[in-house]
Amino acid sequence: MPRAGPAGPRSSDLRFAGSPHVCEGPDTMAHDDVRLLRDKYEDPAQLQSVYEAWDQMAPETRRALLELLPGDWSFTGRRMLDFGCGSGRTLRHFLEEAETGEFWGVDIDPGYIEEVQQLCPPLRAELCGEAPPLRFESSSFDLAWAISVFTHLTDQSIPWLLELHRVLKRGGLLIATYIGRWNSEYVAGEPWDEDRVGMNVLRHTQPWDRGGPTVLMSDWWVRAHWGRLFEVVDVAPNIHNMSWALLRRREVELTVADIEAPADDRREYFAARHNLCHAQKEIEVTQALSQRWLDDLRDEYESSISWRLTRPLRSARQKARALSDRPSHRS
Ligand SMILES: C[S@@+](CC[C@H](N)C(=O)[O-])C[C@H]1O[C@@H](n2cnc3c(N)ncnc32)[C@H](O)[C@@H]1O
Repeated sequence: MPRAGPAGPRSSDLRFAGSPHVCEGPDTMAHDDVRLLRDKYEDPAQLQSVYEAWDQMAPETRRALLELLPGDWSFTGRRMLDFGCGSGRTLRHFLEEAETGEFWGVDIDPGYIEEVQQLCPPLRAELCGEAPPLRFESSSFDLAWAISVFTHLTDQSIPWLLELHRVLKRGGLLIATYIGRWNSEYVAGEPWDEDRVGMNVLRHTQPWDRGGPTVLMSDWWVRAHWGRLFEVVDVAPNIHNMSWALLRRREVELTVADIEAPADDRREYFAARHNLCHAQKEIEVTQALSQRWLDDLRDEYESSISWRLTRPLRSARQKARALSDRPSHRS
């Protein structure tokens, strides 16, 4: 049986009039390349080595946080929140400070929270839901950070940003990382182009044990949208291939819709169109992979002994069916 290859439109088929670049990146990429990239990203051994390297970078993560904070910052008597703390990779480097300040970790993963709870006290940790709210009082934290969390949040991204705004005190600080500029080739398989990326969601349904969804953001988009809730004090570029935004809470009351509303910037449209191109590409790749999987399954089944042994029976049944389908001439 002919194998269904990864068929699909070529770059020229998807090019979009008036915005020559929105679809060029992913479209010029062969589907096999997308599959390879995907396999690489989903391979458990590769993921394991990425996780190990990630853990080893924790002291640098602490340093990056400290360097972003104002020069006169002190943790003493203050409340800190590590949102999406994971297994406490960062928090465990603040045990000394946690003797004089209150350090909380929240995460949706019960296993991670159990790990952090082994360090409580002096730390504090609890499970949170996939969507807000947190059970904390409004205006109760001085500092929150979210390291490599908004890089994976999709539909709940803005609701969580709003929730962190709620729990921060007046003038409270948020340090949140985002990706795009430094890793577009690796995660999206295309060169970075600031003008066609806003908040670009990839692999929307990928489960957490395979790395979860990936979200790319550009500086202009962060300033335009996060900037409505927070003053963007600083963005430290390229620490662990992420941009690190230092944000100060603005005294505003906004809704999710207020924050999501497109800015008056033509890049909003190109970015949405470009994300659609990515989504289309992912659907095509998934379809091609499913077809390949079905073909392999069929090949395996048809070459099996039982299939070959029962061939005469199937052919007899086909003949019987053909006979009974024949029009009758007796009436
Ligand atoms: C890439 S890990 C980063 C973990 C940690 N911040 C670090 O730097 O090691 C992303 C974390 O976000 C957590 N997470 C995902 N969705 C979340 C949500 N809706 N609320 C809280 N945490 C979430 C995951 O369970 C995971 O621990």
